[in-house]
Amino acid sequence: MDSKRTHKRHTVTAALPYANGPIHIGHLAGVYVPADIYVRYLRMKGEDVVYICGSDEHGVPITIKAKQEDKTPQQVVDHYHALIKDSFARFGISFDVYSRTSSPIHHETAAGIFKSLHDKGAFTEHESDQYFDEENNQFLADRYITGTCPHCGYEKAYGDQCENCGTSLSPTDLINPRSVLSGNKPVMKKTRHWYLPLDQHEDMLRKWILEGHKHDWKSNVYGQCKSWIDQGLQPRAVTRDLTWGVKLPLENTEGKVLYVWFDAPIGYISATREWGEAHGKDWEKYWKDPESKLVHFIGKDNIVFHCIIFPVVLHAEGSYILPDNVPANEFLNLEGDKISTSRNWAVWLHEYLDAFPGKEDVLRYVLCAAAPEAKDNDFTWRDFQARNNNELLAIFGNFVNRTLVLTHKYFDGKVPPAGELKATDKEALESLAGFPEKIGEAIENYRFREALSQMMNLARLGNRYLTEAEPWKIFKGDPARVETILHVCLQICASMAVLSEPFLPHTAQKLQKMLAVDKVPEWQEAGQPQLSAGHQINKAELLFEKVEDATIQAQVDKLMQTRRDNDAGKAVAPQKEDISFDDFTRMDLRVATILEAEKIPKTKKLLKMTVDSGIDKRTVVSGIAEYYTPEEVCGKKVVLLANLKPRKIKGVESHGMLLMAENQDGSLSFLSPEKAFDNGSTIS
Ligand code: MF3
Ligand code: ZN
Repeated sequence: MDSKRTHKRHTVTAALPYANGPIHIGHLAGVYVPADIYVRYLRMKGEDVVYICGSDEHGVPITIKAKQEDKTPQQVVDHYHALIKDSFARFGISFDVYSRTSSPIHHETAAGIFKSLHDKGAFTEHESDQYFDEENNQFLADRYITGTCPHCGYEKAYGDQCENCGTSLSPTDLINPRSVLSGNKPVMKKTRHWYLPLDQHEDMLRKWILEGHKHDWKSNVYGQCKSWIDQGLQPRAVTRDLTWGVKLPLENTEGKVLYVWFDAPIGYISATREWGEAHGKDWEKYWKDPESKLVHFIGKDNIVFHCIIFPVVLHAEGSYILPDNVPANEFLNLEGDKISTSRNWAVWLHEYLDAFPGKEDVLRYVLCAAAPEAKDNDFTWRDFQARNNNELLAIFGNFVNRTLVLTHKYFDGKVPPAGELKATDKEALESLAGFPEKIGEAIENYRFREALSQMMNLARLGNRYLTEAEPWKIFKGDPARVETILHVCLQICASMAVLSEPFLPHTAQKLQKMLAVDKVPEWQEAGQPQLSAGHQINKAELLFEKVEDATIQAQVDKLMQTRRDNDAGKAVAPQKEDISFDDFTRMDLRVATILEAEKIPKTKKLLKMTVDSGIDKRTVVSGIAEYYTPEEVCGKKVVLLANLKPRKIKGVESHGMLLMAENQDGSLSFLSPEKAFDNGSTIS
């Protein structure tokens, strides 16, 4: 496996967060906590590592937000950049540099790479028709355009992606497109753009990923890459008609900038440059020397950009290395619901830090223990409380506290010497010696939950050893035996003070202070006894406090209030414009019966049904699969709009529409005639 290969240095990146909102627990669990554990571990092994991040400050969502708030895009990103940077620092995320893509060094780097690819002929360039908003005199790229997703029927899909089914789209894929700026139907207008011909790099990608990383990349990452490659890669536009972004470094390209997903990953490189210049380091080695190991930590929605598009850019440039691994996580939900910035359904990092001062490590612990490594996972406040009280406090904290208190009680806080070792002592020390490797191996293979649980097993080992040895019962009769027992316990504590550092850096610091250790050994040595007899330790302080029910209830209440606010915001849809009686009679509405139904594969919402309309038996597709199973709908009497022009949905032609009522919460219900009338009965 790759982890066995040795590298001269490590370049570790964490996805650049968009500077249009604060950081929440989903970002942390998916990207920043695992990346930080990984990097802290490498540093403790004595590796040469640079840990890179910064704000992603371009892209349409930022200009849209600026417009809504009557601010400039720069004002928006300045605000969030400062907020994000500060909350990461308070939380203990140990970036070597936290840069930003609106900085001059980034504009220069990104434009430089574009220019170099351009001069090499790595792009194709052509004119095409694109949507244009005449009222705002603007092309409608990416999120400036919305419409119905051709894959799942979701009505609020964007020009670059459907957030319902996750498919990546281009604006012309949308059904019934609308300008986000004016709500108008856009017109078509010619414009010229530069494209990265991903299709020309298929062989490289197949060799590198499908053959080269079948066994060391996570299966979710590998699977997504494989499906992208197998579906046939298409040229991707890397420029946009926008004003906010990195200007094209070419003549006569006024009003054009680099696509945000072209410039943002280059932000990793510019941030490394900035760091190198500030610290007298040769940044290029971290990106160009094949003996450097590049690892990208990201969320699953970023996979294609980091595994396909950015590597093609690096490869086409020619002097860069490709990532060794891209450990992408799945998503974290909150109390059973998808985290959502717009619905304020999140636990925001800066708010957590204010509400739980001194408890940074508790959140780190919970987010690592419940990390969505292989599948989506759920954060609940009850779980947070339980993990604090039953694990951190009852296992880790309790062992350390008992050991230190007893050392003070019996030996005035001096590490006692070890006498003759019994089998149980030897077992404990031998087992201790194996922990650095066990934890390290899990970290190197990006299995952070397992690594954390191994670290806790060390605390469990200590607890068990101490509880079974019962020094408090034998001190009177056999003080020498108690010396040995506490000696062993203190060695375990000293190892915990080192091996917990990647996961619980604040706690590790505190524990090192309590043990008065001034020289922390390298990771590999941390399973060996650290403390010599006679060493004076400091007074015991509590590492963790109980989290009370009331504290948790306050957080749960806050979320429930958010839920109520969101529901209250759902006003009844306003009445539509008047229509004439004629308009109404043009609709051919019929009583019909659903005969058969099946789910359309690879969609979440679509049922394909055979309906007896009285006129004929026909196929109708409806987006109701989240509310009805195929079995449930069979035999139902429903109302059919029979003369709706046939249209293709996910490759299936639908002949008409079944009338549905939509509840305020979005759930759907059929309309049915109150009496079981014959199929084909008219409705007026
Ligand atoms: N801002 C993007 C997101 O939050 C991530 C950008 S990562 C980078 O999804 F590679 F582009 F920098
Ligand atoms: Zn969709």
